[in-house]
Order: sequence, then C-alpha cells, then structure tokens
Amino acid sequence: MDIVLSGIRPTGLLHLGNYLGALINFVKMQDENKCYFFIADIHSLTTHPLAEHLQENIKEMIAEYLAAGIDPEKSALYVQSDVPEIIELYVYLNMNAYLGELERCTSFKDKARKQPDNLNAGLLTYPCLMAADILIHRATKVPVGKDQEQHLEMTRTFANRFNRMYNCNIFPEPTAYNFGHELVKIPGLDGSGKMGKSEGGDNCLYLSDEPNVLKKKIMRALTDSGPTQPNQPKPDYINNLFTIMKAVSAPETVAYFDDKWNDCSIRYGDMKKQLFEDVNAFLTPLRERIKDIRSNDEYLAKVVRQGAEQARESARKTMIEVRKAVGIKSLI
Ligand code: TYM
Repeated sequence: MDIVLSGIRPTGLLHLGNYLGALINFVKMQDENKCYFFIADIHSLTTHPLAEHLQENIKEMIAEYLAAGIDPEKSALYVQSDVPEIIELYVYLNMNAYLGELERCTSFKDKARKQPDNLNAGLLTYPCLMAADILIHRATKVPVGKDQEQHLEMTRTFANRFNRMYNCNIFPEPTAYNFGHELVKIPGLDGSGKMGKSEGGDNCLYLSDEPNVLKKKIMRALTDSGPTQPNQPKPDYINNLFTIMKAVSAPETVAYFDDKWNDCSIRYGDMKKQLFEDVNAFLTPLRERIKDIRSNDEYLAKVVRQGAEQARESARKTMIEVRKAVGIKSLI
C-alpha cells in the first residue's frame, strides 16, 4: 500500500489540465492505497493575497473532486488551512532550505517575471510548503503534471536533508507519479504552452464551462493558414490542438485529422468543431454531477470535516516524531 497525495490551488476552478494531469487516473488508486486529496488554499495567497474568492472556489472544487469520483469514505478530501500541522512542518523545513536553491527554482523565476511588484517570501519558500504538504503524511506517490516535477525533486532533497541533519529516518522519498508513464502536460489554447489558470483569458477549458463557452474558446484557439508542404512538422500551437484531441477523442478521429494535416487538406474550422463535440461529450456528465453536488453545502462541509480529521490524525503522528528529532520540547 502506498500513501498517495494530490493537491491543487484554488486560484481558479479545475480545468482539463488539472483533471487529466492530477486527478482522473488517481481516483482508481483509492481502493488499494491511502489517498489524500487536498485544496492548497494557503499556497494561493502567494499570488492572490486577498482571499476574497477563495471560499466559493473551494466549495466548487470540492464538488469537482467528488464529481471526478473521489469517495470520501475511502480517501481524505480536505482543505490545507484546516490542518495547521502542515504550517508547523513548513516552518521547520524553511530552516533547512537554502536561499540559492530556492532562488534557482523555475517557478520562482517565473513568478519573479510575472509579478515583480509582489515578490514575497511565500513565493520563495513555496517549495517548502509543498514539501510540508507531502511529507506531513509521509506520502510516497504524488500525482502531478509535468510542471511540478522540479518541486517534487526539491521535496526529495528536503526530506533527505532533514533525515541526515537530525540523524533519523522519518521521511521516505516521494516520487512524481503517473502510472509509470511520462507525466502529463495538457497545453492551453493560446499557443503559449500549458493550460493553466495563471495564463488567463481563453487559454483554459474549465470542467464547469457551459457548452457555449467551451465552443467559443475552442473556435478561437490559435491556428494559421494551414500547411503548405505535405508531411511538415506541426508548429507548437497546432500540436497543442492535437494533444487535447488525443486526450478526449477517439484515436480514429485524431488519425483522420492527422492525415488531413499531412496531405495539406486540413480545415481547422472542421477540426475545432469536432474537438468541441468531443470535449463537450467528455465534460458533460462531469458538469452535471458537479452542479448536483455543489448545491448541497451541508454535505460539502461534512466531507471536508471528515477529511481534515483524518489528515490531522496522520499529521499529528508525523509531528510528534519531527519535534522529537529537531529537539523541540515543551516545558508545559
Ligand atoms: P496547480 O494548482 O497549478 O495544479 C494542480 C495539479 O494539476 C496539474 N496541472 C496540469 N497537468 C497537466 N497539464 C496541465 N496543463 C496542468 N496544469 C496543472 C499540476 O501539475 C498539479 O499536479 N504547487 C501545486 C499545488 C500543490 C501540490 C502540493 C501538488 C501544493 N502542494 C503537494 C502536489 C502535492 C500547484 O500549483 O498545482
């Protein structure tokens, strides 16, 4: 049995990238492993310091997690801020994380470019908080998309360093997990790379987007005037559409448009219409389940209360060992 942990920031709702990268496949793991799924609300303060929309997003995301198939009787589904032990572990990990390695982290450099006016200490120590999320349950498998690979590498470094520094063996090495396959990277619609809530605009297809919204976003996706030579390599922004299609459409559909690309007869309008039909068919049952679950606030609160209780129990056990290893003893 493995301990599996998956987390998502509530700065926006769940999009197709989150769903395919960090959620859908892992729902199957609930029967054989102890799984923790959580919403990283404290992390989101690093970019959105005012928590004004957080609570609504969190409720919607809990409904989205449940609609994706998480069974709260098998797995713990909780909100990060309901488990204060995580913050205590984060503080201890900060003491063993070095400025140089934190500054070199790609996500920090990226944020330094995107929000130069709010380059706060939380952004710098973001990998320590993420490590605390994982190490608090001594998780060994962490379902993530490709963009989180470096954070996982840093978590391993912090875990090993802690064990060495305090001459203990409290933390196992967690690995980024995707059933032994390459980690997933679902591209966005604007040609810029990954589908992500921080990319803004029409880049993301959200699980809760209504069909007319999905259609508008897909029909506007970046394309060009089409290939001029047979069997040309596809530019990234066209490849992106094919990658999304591979995730939601039948292989014959992808092969059909691939052939059309290769013989230069592709009509992007047709491809986008087909992509819309397939994305919509993929998301419709999910969207309906989300609406159904979201309307029951009492149930959502019960689920996260139960999840937090389980998470705190596991966290409490880890923290007893951590405090002992560090040498923190109370006089009370
Ligand atoms: P976040 O909120 O940006 O994304 C949540 C998860 O979704 C994955 N993901 C993607 N996968 C494939 N294609 C995409 N386009 C795509 N976009 C997002 C991410 O890899 C991630 O797994 N720091 C994390 C949240 C976090 C966390 C953790 C994750 C905090 N603590 C502990 C795992 C373990 C983040 O910002 O993910």
